[in-house]
Amino acid sequence: MDLKSLIREIQDFPKEGISFKDITTVLNNKDAFKYVIDQLSEQLKDLNVDVIVGPEARGFLMGAPVAYKLNKAFVPVRKPGKLPAETARYEYKLEYGTDALEIHKDAIKPGDRVAILDDLLATGGTVLAAAKLIEELGGQVISLNFLIELSFLKGRETLKDYHVETLVQYDEE
Ligand code: PRP
Ligand code: MG
Repeated sequence: MDLKSLIREIQDFPKEGISFKDITTVLNNKDAFKYVIDQLSEQLKDLNVDVIVGPEARGFLMGAPVAYKLNKAFVPVRKPGKLPAETARYEYKLEYGTDALEIHKDAIKPGDRVAILDDLLATGGTVLAAAKLIEELGGQVISLNFLIELSFLKGRETLKDYHVETLVQYDEE
């Protein structure tokens, strides 16, 4: 399936010079949505993972259906202040300022084999933060799987210590 033709590109969103990759047009096509979830699941099926982690918000859209399909647990990583029980927090630098992500401390058990799913690999900062949280809790990050990779942002360098797989690559903005 030609996924690239189904990913809508919006010029100058959210700011000038950015060509936004809109996955809602994939989600809104039942065959394409199914194909994406099937492909991501296929990449993971022999890796013997225990848990699928998805970072808020678009990571939920990839992670939860894959967890269901592979009959694995799903764990959300969320923006600060959203998770009600005791959390671990990881802060990371943005171009201006900092951002943070949280996970429930009891959501990952020492030795758990974990895959992180997200819609898009850009700089890699989001998923690196999620990986650090999982490791802090004693989990093992086995695989990072994405629908889209913006190769020109070199996220794979940020994630060089991990196994990374992506379904669609963009080599230039
Ligand atoms: C987007 C996207 C990835 C992240 C990729 O999420 O869904 O999670 O950016 O960028 P990075 O590789 O440079 O970290 P965003 O933070 O916009 O929020 P959302 O998923 O809640 O829409
Ligand atoms: Mg996101």
